[in-house]
Amino acid sequence: MRDYILLYINGQEQRISGAQAFQPASDYLRLDLGKCGTKVVCAEGDCGACSVMIGKLDSSGQKLDYVPVNSCIQYLYQLDCSHLVTVEGLRVEGQLNPVQQSMVDHNGAQCGYCTPGFVIAMCGLANDLKCADSCAKFPAGQKLTEELVKDSLTGNLCRCTGYEAIINAGMAMDLERFKPFASLYNESEIVASFKAHVSQELLVEADGRKAFNPTTLASANKFLADNEKVVIVSGGTDVSVNMNKRDLVPKAIMSTAALPGLDDITMVESADKGEVMSIGARVTLRQLERAIKDLVPEFYDILWVYGSPQIRHAGTLAGNLANGSPIADSPPFLFVMDAEVEVTGQAGARRIAMADFYKGYKLLSLKKDELITRIFLPLPKADEILRLYKVSRRQHLDISAFTAAIRVTVKDNKIVAARVVFGGVGPVVKSVPEVEHALIGKVHELATYEAAGKVAREAIAPITDVRASKDYRLTLAENIMTKFYYESGAKERALACR
Ligand SMILES: Cc1cc2nc3c(=O)[nH]c(=O)nc-3n(C[C@H](O)[C@H](O)[C@H](O)COP(=O)(O)OP(=O)(O)OC[C@H]3O[C@@H](n4cnc5c(N)ncnc54)[C@H](O)[C@@H]3O)c2cc1C
Ligand code: FES
Ligand code: FES
Repeated sequence: MRDYILLYINGQEQRISGAQAFQPASDYLRLDLGKCGTKVVCAEGDCGACSVMIGKLDSSGQKLDYVPVNSCIQYLYQLDCSHLVTVEGLRVEGQLNPVQQSMVDHNGAQCGYCTPGFVIAMCGLANDLKCADSCAKFPAGQKLTEELVKDSLTGNLCRCTGYEAIINAGMAMDLERFKPFASLYNESEIVASFKAHVSQELLVEADGRKAFNPTTLASANKFLADNEKVVIVSGGTDVSVNMNKRDLVPKAIMSTAALPGLDDITMVESADKGEVMSIGARVTLRQLERAIKDLVPEFYDILWVYGSPQIRHAGTLAGNLANGSPIADSPPFLFVMDAEVEVTGQAGARRIAMADFYKGYKLLSLKKDELITRIFLPLPKADEILRLYKVSRRQHLDISAFTAAIRVTVKDNKIVAARVVFGGVGPVVKSVPEVEHALIGKVHELATYEAAGKVAREAIAPITDVRASKDYRLTLAENIMTKFYYESGAKERALACR
């Protein structure tokens, strides 16, 4: 059993054990290593000032895949066998790299506090574009566009420069001169080192706390069974915020990072559900976004406004479900598609229907020794109309005030099947059978949906909180039914917030 975390930081090996392992990467960089280029502002994933590139072994196990993440919500125990590249590590032969140079040339910084984060986010885009032919993140030959620059920067806030200069800098990056991270550092040495370590189990202990990285499901289940109140960490985008801002100090933490067989997406056929996407619990939202883009564009649109690239590079679908928030963005879709969650414990694997997964506010149908291992997501059929809605105060990087998923089958202008689910209207995501009954068997016309909207208003009892008032949520639930009707004939997809 290994008792130290193996990291490379800007190409230098680091072995971290004891209490040092229980801190966010941003603190380790700034306070322990004096690498203060990485800034911390919000410490909860919202501003991007702490962004660093992180390289992990890709699915081939022979190369490193680099993505930008928020280092304030990436704790070191999650990052075993990772290469962190900070803003200090971007120089090429002592010179600013083309992204940094472009920020200088286009006056992309004033106080400069946000600048390292913007530079890292842009480097993430530049790196993906440079390896588009081999890494399948973009179609081969993908050009730099303003939309891509803006998308890559949705997780970064600037208080003083204004975004125009920064976007201009992004558009002017000299991609010809940009060296991908794989060629900037000794990739073969780092890969060899990670391969020698990655299959070793890791247990770090300090001050009565322990962090465990199992490499088999059996040892994960045993650790859960043997320890009290274990906090499972996948991407850490919820857990780490709770640690930074809500005084969560878990005695026992178990990271899923080294569990094999949970990082793939495959398609399976089901006799009753047709085509089903099987999504491993370690699949990040960014990987899912790419896989689902053409298969379920409605869900791709939801993922597009989900957090930021940095959040989606770390966060997982499994974490979103297990967090149990009634305003999480993926559960309504999974509910209406009758998805199933596979959980595995010492007794083996079992599947739980989404409708049975939540027992109350943040209460899951999981036994003590179980963790989520896969999600089985049936895909919409050609004759079904699916619409997903996220209502939030701003488009990107915002938590929903209200969500809805509506799936309807219409034959000969009659509604023959309907599934309607709302989020943000109670302690758990809520299926509304009353509304479904108000639709099924009726003519697919405006009056039916107007009547169903009135039923929706009666079927829920939302509360007023910081995100929305009770009345606003009631109005949304009613009006979303007519919105669905108006959009049901449309070819193009439409988000409530677009
Ligand atoms: C800035 C910011 C923006 C965000 N934006 C959005 C948004 O737009 N929409 C949205 O829905 N959410 C959003 N979130 C919340 C969060 O990113 C998502 O819920 C994410 O999907 C969580 O995944 P994770 O892997 O990071 O979970 P983690 O933080 O690792 O875990 C979350 C919960 O799931 C449990 N868990 C994790 N993996 C497993 C497993 N395999 N088995 C059992 N339990 C497990 C953990 O113990 C914890 O309770 C945002 C968060 C931040 C910080
Ligand atoms: S400090 Fe704001 S995202 Fe990390
Ligand atoms: S340059 Fe000052 S916050 Fe962006």
